[in-house]
Amino acid sequence: MNTVLVGAQWGDEGKGKVIDFLTEESDVVVRFQGGSNAGHTVVFGDKKYVLHLVPSGILHNGKHCVIGNGVVMDPFDLMKELEQVESWGFELKGRFHISERAQMVMQWHRAIDKAEEAARPEGKKIGTTGRGIGPAYAAKVGRYGMRVGDILRPNFLDLVRDQVEEANRALKALGAQTLDADEMVKLYTPMVKALMPYVTDTIQFLHENLEAKKSLLFEGAQATMLDIDFGTYPFVTSSNPTAGGACTGSGVSPRAIDRVIGVLKLYTTRVGEGPFPTELFDADGETLRQRGGEFGATTGRPRRCGWFDAVVAKYAQRVNGVDFWAMTKLDVLDAFETVKICTGYKRKDGFVYTTFPADLEVLKYCEPVYEEMPGWQCETSKITDYAALPENAKAYINRILDLVGGQLGVLSVGPARETTLRINI
Ligand code: GDP
Ligand code: IMO
Ligand code: MG
Repeated sequence: MNTVLVGAQWGDEGKGKVIDFLTEESDVVVRFQGGSNAGHTVVFGDKKYVLHLVPSGILHNGKHCVIGNGVVMDPFDLMKELEQVESWGFELKGRFHISERAQMVMQWHRAIDKAEEAARPEGKKIGTTGRGIGPAYAAKVGRYGMRVGDILRPNFLDLVRDQVEEANRALKALGAQTLDADEMVKLYTPMVKALMPYVTDTIQFLHENLEAKKSLLFEGAQATMLDIDFGTYPFVTSSNPTAGGACTGSGVSPRAIDRVIGVLKLYTTRVGEGPFPTELFDADGETLRQRGGEFGATTGRPRRCGWFDAVVAKYAQRVNGVDFWAMTKLDVLDAFETVKICTGYKRKDGFVYTTFPADLEVLKYCEPVYEEMPGWQCETSKITDYAALPENAKAYINRILDLVGGQLGVLSVGPARETTLRINI
């Protein structure tokens, strides 16, 4: 059984937690896009683990973890994270693999990311994580990027020198501090040695596993509405976090994918700039933020919070072909007297959009249309059996399923491993 797991909203849906749950029954966990802009949280025992680049499957000794060709990997972030994983007591040897074809995020990409963001006027800022993601993907499609396999070349450090010179021209144009090529060479020299043992032909590795009938689990980072093609462009990330990205970002054919799981938070959040039709600026928004602990796992920024948006979820269902939903954070809604679901965006002339418009300008002149349902106002975080959920909570979930399609596969009612209910998968 090969599974693709994707975020259905604007990220931070609880993908890390669901991956951790599904790793149990998988053999290989694969990241296929994004980089250290991701922050995936897993909680078990009395500890919270946050992973940025390393697949969340690493917290299960014995399972293989792969950074696929579609990822942009910052070697410094990676080394830091690998040290951390080892300090937590997990084995890396022989089970962590990086694609030779993955692109590297270099120091200059980070510098350009920050300089570009600083140069954008108000209203045009994206609110990037500053991890160099956009410039690294720009280098990839511009065909001047640096791939992980390049570190195996004897002239790797000359490549570094050439790239710094090139990047300095961009930094100068942006009015930012340039980088010293010698310093960069010194910085990257020890890294080459440290990374080498993990560099793998991951296409060969993944196909050997497929032929041996092993189960692959593809861990999406970011989410549908942050997708470079399907998201709220230009307020998006620079990769394809949607299900198709799992194939282009790993070298595994779409014919090998058996199911798609979409992770859906039972309300909505967003970090960074860009449209968010159901955003709340009132006490309800603050309640969601506080109860949900909605502060960025990568940047610590407070997340913007709002009601569940069924227009977004339906769109995500279609774009990804979601078979099963992993619905998360039901417990956060326990406190509300009533809960709301957005079913459309209403224009001033009365026209209602029921699918997400490509033109973001449209949203400026729209109001969300809500269905209001009674809340359940009791604690759900200790419930271990779906049947035992309050009737109003079940009605809320069922209404969402009616609106968006797909089946309920997993329901999460708290951050910890034990608070995961297996429903249909
Ligand atoms: P990801 O980026 O999709 O992996 O999500 P993050 O880890 O950035 O954010 C999800 C946050 O919600 C983390 O702090 C999780 O520990 C937490 N979380 C996940 N599922 C649940 C849940 O069902 N209830 C509550 N209260 N917290 C959850
Ligand atoms: P996970 O995997 C939420 C957002 C940033 C910014 C935009 C572009 O934890 O769900 P980037 O640094 O990628 O160029 O920033 O995308 N963003 C995320 N928001 N969760 C994430 O990852 C995100 N990764 C990027 O806030 O608005
Ligand atoms: Mg996150």
